[in-house]
Amino acid sequence: MVNYIEAAAAPMKNTGVIRLYGPDAFEGMRRACQLTARCLDALWPMIKPGITTNEIDRFVLEFGLAHGALPATLNYRGYRKVCCTSINHVVCHGIPDDKPLRDGDIVNIDVTFILDGWHGDASRMYPVGEVKRAAERLMEVTYECLLLGIAAVKPGARIGAIGEAIQTYAEKERCSVVRDFCGHGVGALFHDAPNILHYGSAKDGPEIKEGMVFTIEPMINLGRPHVKVLSDGWTAVTRDRSLSAQYEHTVGVTKDGCEVFTLSPTGLDRPGLK
Ligand code: MF3
Ligand code: CO
Ligand code: CO
Repeated sequence: MVNYIEAAAAPMKNTGVIRLYGPDAFEGMRRACQLTARCLDALWPMIKPGITTNEIDRFVLEFGLAHGALPATLNYRGYRKVCCTSINHVVCHGIPDDKPLRDGDIVNIDVTFILDGWHGDASRMYPVGEVKRAAERLMEVTYECLLLGIAAVKPGARIGAIGEAIQTYAEKERCSVVRDFCGHGVGALFHDAPNILHYGSAKDGPEIKEGMVFTIEPMINLGRPHVKVLSDGWTAVTRDRSLSAQYEHTVGVTKDGCEVFTLSPTGLDRPGLK
């Protein structure tokens, strides 16, 4: 039995059914995602040794509010910040705090804005000052994983084709794919069906259909794939303390491929990389 409030919210629950969105929804997603991409662009000149992740968080809040958007992460399942900032061996869900970034760090900044009810979810890696070649290579491999995952998105293929493309390349480059977190359907909801695994087989998962909207957000480690979550309940780190990187785009499936809604309008999808 459901009460009135639950009944009203029922269309907004993740029921496991994969929603198919039409042209108006695609336009809404384009706008929300482009706002997120512009915020990630605007952050790049600020990412210098000495800035704190709380300062980044504050900037993201003000950027969103100034453009009529709310951050999806604030108060999401008890999360208390506007974005996630994951430094070095932090895999994802790093919580902004008052510690300054240091020369040589690599940091993922993950932003989700809600604009007119549509969720735009994206993240990028930012090198802080001069970083080691190994860190740079990990970032290059991880963005290439994201591009190969995107290239596998075609109506008629299965969702597993995305993970297979990512895992094959990551492991060829002697890196590993994190298994504990995945991409997700997104749109009117923040986290919806289907799960987008970043490993596995092209034979697995539901068939990709025009109108699906989801994220691809591979987390790739220099060492082993295993992670643990710290006692704050959020921060996921590599168990072997090896470096981890992640990039995330939101895509919408078209007739013959997909549209990447969160592409940078200024070509800054891989800040600091060539
Ligand atoms: N933006 C993240 C994602 O890509 C989710 C962050 S949830 C939070 O799905 F609560 F940790 F912020
Ligand atoms: Co996401
Ligand atoms: Co995200």
